Formats: sequence, C-alpha cells, structure tokens
Amino acid sequence: MATRVCFLGHAALLFESDGLNVLIDPFLTGNPVAAITADQARADLILVTHGHGDHVGDTAAIATRTGATVAANYEISEWFKGVGGNLPADKVHGPQHGGSFTYKGVRVKLTLAFHGSELPDGSNGGNPCGFVITFADGFKVYDAGDTALFGDMALIGEAGLDLATIPIGDYYTMGPDDAIRAVQMLKPRYVLPIHYNTFPPIAQDAAAWAARIERETSSKAVVLKPGEWFEIPPR
Ligand code: NI
Ligand code: MN
Repeated sequence: MATRVCFLGHAALLFESDGLNVLIDPFLTGNPVAAITADQARADLILVTHGHGDHVGDTAAIATRTGATVAANYEISEWFKGVGGNLPADKVHGPQHGGSFTYKGVRVKLTLAFHGSELPDGSNGGNPCGFVITFADGFKVYDAGDTALFGDMALIGEAGLDLATIPIGDYYTMGPDDAIRAVQMLKPRYVLPIHYNTFPPIAQDAAAWAARIERETSSKAVVLKPGEWFEIPPR
C-alpha cells in the first residue's frame, strides 16, 4: 500500500491510498491554475475545510456525479444536504472540531483553523477547520485549511505527521514566515505548500520557501506544480 497526493492547484488536493480517492477543497471551476476540470475529478470522499468559494468549489457537482461521500463541519454539511447541493443525507458527514469519523478505513479528524467560513450564498458556514487524516496504511496527513499560525499546531504535530499541507500565500492565511514557524511546531516528515500563486494577492516564491524549510526545520519540502504527484516515502 502507498499513499500519494496530487496538487490540483490552489488548496485542492487529491489523495490516493489503497484504491480510495480522497479529494480536498475541490475548487476547479474558475480556478485559474486548476490541473483538471470538475468533470475529470475522481472522488470517493470529499473533505471541505470551510465555506469559502475557493474551497467549497465544485464539491456538490462532483459528489452528485460520482456518488462520493462529503464531509465538512456540521453547518456546511447541512447546507450540502439542502440549498448547497441536495446531497443525500447518507452521503454527508457533519462532525465538528475535535470529532472524527471513519470512511472505509480512512480516519478523519477535524482540527482548529483560524479564518472565516461564510458560504457562497451568504449562509452560515460555521467555523473553519483543518483535517488530520489517517490512511489505511497508517500514514498521517494534516491539511491545515485556510488558517493563521496558532500554537496548538504543536499538539497536532504530536500525532506524528508524515505530511502536512499548509498555506503559505499570506493575505488570507499565514504567509511564508509564519508557515516556517508552523512547520517547526508540526514537525511533519514532509511539507507541501498550498494556497499561493492562484491570484495576485497570494503570489509567493515557493522554491525560496522550500530552501528555508531545509535550513530552518527538520522537515523536507515538496513543491508540486498543479497536476504533479508525490508519493509519501516509507518511514
Ligand atoms: Ni478561505
Ligand atoms: Mn481560501
């Protein structure tokens, strides 16, 4: 078994593990750097970190086409079952921060994130979250979602992370300097920067940031262009 990840552009990620496709924040339509279209997306499970349009994206359309299960915080899960997509109740998970669920051997826990979460139609999207995902092969991945730096990342890191996917774009989320501090607390084996270079306000030099990760942390940086894959090496 192996777990690999494809960066789809912005904050959209596709994880493939043991034949299961876990899609995160599939903002593809209207995403200027999207590697695939919504029609091309594969998904068994779709995770949505918060209500903003650049994260909810094409979730409802992809779930309707593929029959994928969708998980988000309680408020967003209720929205998906109603005006946000009419998704069937048995295909939607709506936990809250600190809570977990298991989908076909994949354990997903919601973590804190410091950000907003209003849904595209103005509905209340609850509080934003990140995810700690434990795949069937035991690999642990933390997707921070959109967030500022916060000290409890040290607690999240205690889980022993194989990979962290964290924003570096600045303006809407933590920027490069705070993302270095985040990695120092999370201590993942590998870190993949996301949420940058999609739009002018979040332009960043990912290669320069990756060089700092090598110098200033004990983690390894993995910079992917949209459409590129990374297979998490064995421990
Ligand atoms: Ni956001
Ligand atoms: Mn965002």
